[in-house]
Amino acid sequence: ESRFRAALTHVTDPTPGSWATQERRPATNGFANAQDTNPALLANQHWAAAIHDRLPAPELGRRILEDHLVDDDAAVDALLERGRAAGEAWAARPLAERVAALHRLATELEALRADLIAVAGDEVGKLIDQADVEVSEAVDFANYYAFLAQEQVQGAEHVPPCLTTVAPPWNFPIAIPLGGVAAALAAGSAAILKPAPPARRTAALLAEGCWRAGLPADLVQLAIVDDGPVSKRLITDPRVDLVVLTGAAETAELFRSWRPSLPLLAETSGKNALVITPSADLDLAAADLANSAFGHAGQKCSAASLGILVGSVARSRRFRSQLLDAVRSLKVAWPTAPAAQMGPLTEPAGDKLLRGLTRLEPGQRWLLEPRQLDGRLWRPGIRDGVLPGSEYHRVEYFGPVLGLMAARDLDEAIAWQNGTEFGLTAGLHSLDPDEVSHWIERVEAGNAYVNRSITGAIVRRQPFGGWKRSAVGAGGKAGGPNYLMAFGRWHAHPSEA
Ligand code: ALA
Repeated sequence: ESRFRAALTHVTDPTPGSWATQERRPATNGFANAQDTNPALLANQHWAAAIHDRLPAPELGRRILEDHLVDDDAAVDALLERGRAAGEAWAARPLAERVAALHRLATELEALRADLIAVAGDEVGKLIDQADVEVSEAVDFANYYAFLAQEQVQGAEHVPPCLTTVAPPWNFPIAIPLGGVAAALAAGSAAILKPAPPARRTAALLAEGCWRAGLPADLVQLAIVDDGPVSKRLITDPRVDLVVLTGAAETAELFRSWRPSLPLLAETSGKNALVITPSADLDLAAADLANSAFGHAGQKCSAASLGILVGSVARSRRFRSQLLDAVRSLKVAWPTAPAAQMGPLTEPAGDKLLRGLTRLEPGQRWLLEPRQLDGRLWRPGIRDGVLPGSEYHRVEYFGPVLGLMAARDLDEAIAWQNGTEFGLTAGLHSLDPDEVSHWIERVEAGNAYVNRSITGAIVRRQPFGGWKRSAVGAGGKAGGPNYLMAFGRWHAHPSEA
């Protein structure tokens, strides 16, 4: 996967494909002042009206949860046995049949769009526009992995995993669980979906979509488990051939300590920065920085938690006031408010995030001090004067706080951007082609973006995954051409023999 290609986000790949739905949704990047004439926001308001009566939707998904509780060893054993039998049967089906089932899954997800948006809003506080894009990403994953299976599995000597445990996070409760399940199915494996506790009902609806698409109930099993010995067995039992995890780096490391030989495909934490040079379009850069930092209240592994301002941008009061305007004018509200631009924290802020939201280190000052508005609703914050090596420079807080650093030149900015143990997303705003190539050659991140926000990777065009401590285990990036290669053992393709 060429990093350079990934960076050229303004070049539209002309290859037609049904996995492009993600890009056709109304984008709400940036914070237009003329909101009532912004077509994207008008489209959102239309959606909001359609979805409003489903929010909150406490009954959606609940019945399914009760039927899929896994609370003792006997239940785990039964789950694993059913999964292995279904996996064997699935791998024996003709590829065309598996591919067709994935396309049917995409259609069922479209049919569940409004319900998924409503439940994700209710459970984790996803705003309508962000949940909407997530449904599109899920649809794209199903179609794209079907396409990859056709391209790669056909004629290859491939031994798929029989049973894959998919352990997604709560912050992308639609796209990430569905992506893991769809990839496992495309590769020829059965899947156990073990949702993160805050996002169980959304996962139940995804499972419902799978079953409605005709995928057998034993092939895609939902496992509602609390953290503890029962849940641990979904990782450690040797009948599980592969674990697909998206979560904290510590969780991946814990899984590895439980089962050192575990085949693990994990996308983990990030400490991501957007560098802005004096040649940048500063209006766009301010909007992209605010958007990257505060989408889903900063609760994205891909979020920008640092803006590294170079040279005259670092000294510019105008840039700071532009950024401040963009952030201060964000409407912070619960997802039921149609015009909300930043939603709540999914769970009350823990100790680490509270530190990020309240404690300044030497040399730092608040450009905008975070403020708790109503329980999990926080006004976002911006701290200025973050120094290299400080706690704020290194630690992922996972919430609505952004720090600014002032770099002398681009090389210093790159050194700070690379100067953490993570390497997930990174951005550059610059209109100087020499700066862009200089940066591309040096930046250490799985997803490197130029002149756009640093969240919201698009399936196939921007395969998503990290370097350094942002990934564990061998394997390609989600939504990219190498992803299925991480599922099972591949021998020589006949055409290469
Ligand atoms: N794939 C998600 C993003 O790119 C995490 O923001």
